[in-house]
Amino acid sequence: MTKIYYFSGTGNTLWSAKRIAELLGGDTAVFNIGAEMQKEPGALEADRLVFMFPSYAYQSPLMVRRFLIRSAIRSPYIAALVTFGTAPGGALAEVRRVLKRKKAVLSFSGSIPSVENYIPIFGPPDEQIVAKRLALQSAATEEAAKAIEAGKKNSPWPIRPFSFFVSSLFRMGTPLFVKGYKAGAECNGCGLCERICPAGAITLKNSRPEFSAKCEHCQACLNWCPRRSIRYIRLKPDTPRYHHPGITVHDLF
Ligand SMILES: Cc1cc2nc3c(=O)[nH]c(=O)nc-3n(C[C@H](O)[C@H](O)[C@H](O)COP(=O)(O)O)c2cc1C
Repeated sequence: MTKIYYFSGTGNTLWSAKRIAELLGGDTAVFNIGAEMQKEPGALEADRLVFMFPSYAYQSPLMVRRFLIRSAIRSPYIAALVTFGTAPGGALAEVRRVLKRKKAVLSFSGSIPSVENYIPIFGPPDEQIVAKRLALQSAATEEAAKAIEAGKKNSPWPIRPFSFFVSSLFRMGTPLFVKGYKAGAECNGCGLCERICPAGAITLKNSRPEFSAKCEHCQACLNWCPRRSIRYIRLKPDTPRYHHPGITVHDLF
């Protein structure tokens, strides 16, 4: 059996996870790390384990690292795949290190180019760039599935001092960054943001979202909000939002 565990905010990683499950076929199951983290820690056991996540400031999301640390991991073949917008940095090296400390061996790792979803910083991607990046994502996802099917092995370059520096700054800043998220007057209290937040960082109070320091900055809330009401840095209600076009909000539940 193959078990795929993913973390995803705007659906890029989820799309690749679902596609790999489809390509591997047979006995393959897909699990949302956000939902798994609501349960008691347990053992992750399968013939093949695949961990998939986006790169955040050159590392994996904090929740992914916590998930790996708290779980018993038993599999003869462990793969890690990172989706990224421009450069994944040391995200795979970090996951390899976390696994190694748990005496688990990362057998295969790969990176999947995707659409950059950090639109409050980089602005919304234009249509041509989205089309090009989606094609790259599709091809890289198929390659990764073939490599896993063939039991391919490799190892990411382990020493990434610049990534370590950038991600340390990001992690120090995250509890402060969350103070920038606000719901505008367009918010009608539908609660979608609360339901889809993989970090459980949003609570509705008096029909308004409140954002807690558990936030991973995955950008799910502001990209999936049907009224584009969530503001953050450069975002305005008329700023186009992004999510993977092959994923619907129902796929996230
Ligand atoms: C907070 C944050 C930090 C990011 N940092 C990086 C990065 O360091 N390198 C990169 O290539 N992409 C970065 N990205 C882009 C995402 O890794 C990329 O768009 C990913 O495919 C999103 O996956 P998802 O749709 O499954 O959430 C970042 C995105 C966010 C929201």
